Amino acid sequence: MLEPTTPPDPPSFEAQGKPNFVGVADILEFRALPEYHEPDWVTAKYVSAGLLPSVKDRLPTEPLVFKAANMPDGIGVYGDVMRHVIGGRPEGWNYAAGQSQGWGGIDIGTMECLTRTGPLFQIKAEDLEPLPNLARSWEWSEDGYQLTMHLIEGAKWSDGVPFDADDVMFYWEDNVLDPNVTPLNGASPETFGVGTTLEKVDANTIRWTFKEPFPKQYLYQMGYGTFCPGPAHLLKPQHPKYNPANSYEDYKNAFPPTYLNFPVMGAWVVVEYRPDDIIVTRRNPYYWKVDEAGNQLPYLNEVHYRLSTWADRDVQAAAGTGDYSNLEQPENYVEALKRSAADDAPARLEFGPRTIGYSLLLNYSANGWGEPDARSQAVRELNRNLDFRKAISTALDRQKLGESLVKGPFTAIYPGGLYSASAYYDKASTVYYPYSLETAKAYLAKAGLVDTDGDGIVNFPAGTAGGANVEIALLSETDLRTNKNIGEAIIAQLEPLGIRVVSNFMGNNETLARQAAGQYDWLVYRNQSELITAVQNTVALAPTGPRVSVFHRAGTDGSLDLLPFETDLVETVNSFIATNDPAERIALMKHYQQVYTENVYAVGLTQYSAALIVNKRFANIPIGAPNFMFNWGEDSIMRERVFVSADKQQDYELHPESLPGTPGSPDPID
Ligand code: GLA
Ligand code: CA
Repeated sequence: MLEPTTPPDPPSFEAQGKPNFVGVADILEFRALPEYHEPDWVTAKYVSAGLLPSVKDRLPTEPLVFKAANMPDGIGVYGDVMRHVIGGRPEGWNYAAGQSQGWGGIDIGTMECLTRTGPLFQIKAEDLEPLPNLARSWEWSEDGYQLTMHLIEGAKWSDGVPFDADDVMFYWEDNVLDPNVTPLNGASPETFGVGTTLEKVDANTIRWTFKEPFPKQYLYQMGYGTFCPGPAHLLKPQHPKYNPANSYEDYKNAFPPTYLNFPVMGAWVVVEYRPDDIIVTRRNPYYWKVDEAGNQLPYLNEVHYRLSTWADRDVQAAAGTGDYSNLEQPENYVEALKRSAADDAPARLEFGPRTIGYSLLLNYSANGWGEPDARSQAVRELNRNLDFRKAISTALDRQKLGESLVKGPFTAIYPGGLYSASAYYDKASTVYYPYSLETAKAYLAKAGLVDTDGDGIVNFPAGTAGGANVEIALLSETDLRTNKNIGEAIIAQLEPLGIRVVSNFMGNNETLARQAAGQYDWLVYRNQSELITAVQNTVALAPTGPRVSVFHRAGTDGSLDLLPFETDLVETVNSFIATNDPAERIALMKHYQQVYTENVYAVGLTQYSAALIVNKRFANIPIGAPNFMFNWGEDSIMRERVFVSADKQQDYELHPESLPGTPGSPDPID
């Protein structure tokens, strides 16, 4: 039998750009400026015609000001469009009630959150803390149990209605705390710590009370995607608590994709939707951020989301018919690299560190989550068996799996847990079960699985699921080609082990619904930022609450059936949240990594570098902005500061010189 070891060093692959590291205060501040500006046509067509208040009156008393010194190309000019291409499809605009907008930057471009974390890739380690955003400042009580946040004052939704603490409290009380509602990206009360409360102090002040002192970690969860409030003035009247005629389904679906001009705090408002064709967003006339010269942002008048496929996003960005892609499907790397190598290539392509990675998640809930049938229940018992997990991990040839996606130094063996690109990664604490079919078979026998009827597939023991062949359904989404390819590789690689894995592949919206409902045995999962940063979404590193983990949630009785090593993980994560001492944090994450990987908590698969492709006409793209780290590239590059210089501007605006209409108005444009 092959013994576990430390993982091999990943092949060397340098990120192409190094960020210019700065402090938070170098990026932005909140202050009033002597004068404000807007595009001329807004003044002429709207303000002068009496349709809109003056720009000064649309802005908060002290807007968010981006500092010019931190803008790679400085103060910008108005105009042009960023043409995204996406593979997702919108379910509707009610993010707070769990609807997907189709991803690819739509929700990031329309929503604003209390704090902001995408741009943190460029913050000096000693200054690392989420950026203020809707919460413009905050202070801790002396004992550290209370955090008082000051909201931006005088800011307005894109329809001109004031934004204030009532919007925040509606999101918290009637969405996060209401067990019948799960916001997109899964905010639950425990996302902010078990027992945490939130109250309104006054129209512009809110106060958090925590169960432990100074849990600064939760500031990260107050950013995208777990604390981005929706417009209470539209949502509240649809919520069953305030509208007894409505069911929770009615609430969730009250704003379908065809509902236009849904009010947002983000830089662009959805003004047009054509199914399977395009979503068009236009500048928000009430946007509350400016540059140092007083120009109201965004600079870009319009942002498009072409409703196509994720693979097409790569093709179009490299060809110049689209403007942006997170090149993250390794199957497309060679072609995209070829296109961007030419001198006249329309787009620049920059690889970052290995921050995209996949795990095979095994459903650990044996007490009813997702209402499993007898077979599925038996699989969950297996998932909870360490020898079984070791068998699966050891039967997977990760080198081959990575190479099946793309040849070359892009992918690396991923044993699970924190990524090797993480600041908290420690190789010596990482347990790797190297590929060996013989060893895997021995682990499987130890788990009590034998092929009793000689058909090549191991059987459940007599008395479990009728002693039938072990058959496991693998949930994987098909919108991303990589998820599907990885799913197929797992199925093929486990066949010689005598495990029959059956594909249960479906679109992203359906996959997410199954995932959230716990209706799966195994899941192909693209990891989120906690395994890169440890500080973003820290609670998700372990089942710290009943609804926090993706693959282990409370059963029908509301309780979690944690295995002993999971309790260790939960305690480790909670200790990490409770301390701000760097040395202690490093030690805790080493322990976390050790426990995670030796227990094969989730089966790590592959980790790899991804690239940002941005058309060369755009200015202010920060150097070294990763495709994914604290958040996706669409947030990290701070699109509201991105511009196109006058000589490079194109004629791509579909609704030139127009602004969003009133909420729900059928006409895209006023
Ligand atoms: C999808 C894409 C990512 C990114 C995000 C943004 O998940 O695969 O590259 O665009 O949407 O939410
Ligand atoms: Ca059999």
